[in-house]
Amino acid sequence: MKKTTKDTINIKQHDVTYEHEESLEVGELMPTGSMYVDSMEQIVNMKDTFSQTMDPILCMYNAAMNATTARLDIIKDEFEFRNQRCPIHHIDTRLKSAESILGKLQKKDLDLTLTVACNNIYDIAGVRVVTPYVKDIYNIRNRIEAQDDIFIMEEKDYVASPKRNGYRSLHIIIRIPVYFMGKKQLVPVELQIRTLAMDLWASLEHDLKYKNLHKESGIDFTAKLYECSRLIYQAESEMEKINDLLEEDL
Ligand code: GTP
Ligand code: MG
Repeated sequence: MKKTTKDTINIKQHDVTYEHEESLEVGELMPTGSMYVDSMEQIVNMKDTFSQTMDPILCMYNAAMNATTARLDIIKDEFEFRNQRCPIHHIDTRLKSAESILGKLQKKDLDLTLTVACNNIYDIAGVRVVTPYVKDIYNIRNRIEAQDDIFIMEEKDYVASPKRNGYRSLHIIIRIPVYFMGKKQLVPVELQIRTLAMDLWASLEHDLKYKNLHKESGIDFTAKLYECSRLIYQAESEMEKINDLLEEDL
């Protein structure tokens, strides 16, 4: 039997009586002003088209991300096996959502197609390697470069030349082979390699930048953030020097 009327039900719990509307107001869950589709048939169809197109693409990028992480894990294992200090502190991964791929195409004023996205956006798959010291960044980079089935497409060294705001990190776009749906493709992955100290600054700066945009505080923190980056760099260098002395004795 279809119920179309709103019934009021009473739930008695711990001696408190709440009054509830039995039917849920779906429209109230949507952001104000947004258009939403209520027909389940349309929703299912939309999801099918979306999944059929997007799933294999994201699956391929996900495979590339996992393949990259696997190579890094092997490097980690090697150091553990040799009982040596590991140059990898931790690894983070992220896959760009369809919404942010679209946003980036719009920002770059490119055609809004999947083909253009896959051939112009190189950070759909992103892997971040966080290392203890600066020397570890280049150690990881060189070990990746030495793998003859991985190609380095692009390299931006913000460690040697930090950005004007104080951002430091090594960015490389690699292409890694992925065997998927009977084909081998060289899939781009953005590899960001940075120290714990660089990661601390970048995470906090990202958070502050985001908050600042929303609050429109009108205060310019650029110089302050640059100074923080410099101080963090100084502390990190001093600690790396201590480590160099200790490792010399090994
Ligand atoms: P894209 O077209 O977005 O790749 O521009 P790009 O290639 O000029 O970017 P770049 O390689 O310089 O940086 C890409 C990523 O690095 C960003 O998505 C961030 O994750 C990180 N990044 C770059 N600059 C900053 C920065 O100033 N602060 C923080 N917190 N992260 C940054
Ligand atoms: Mg980039």
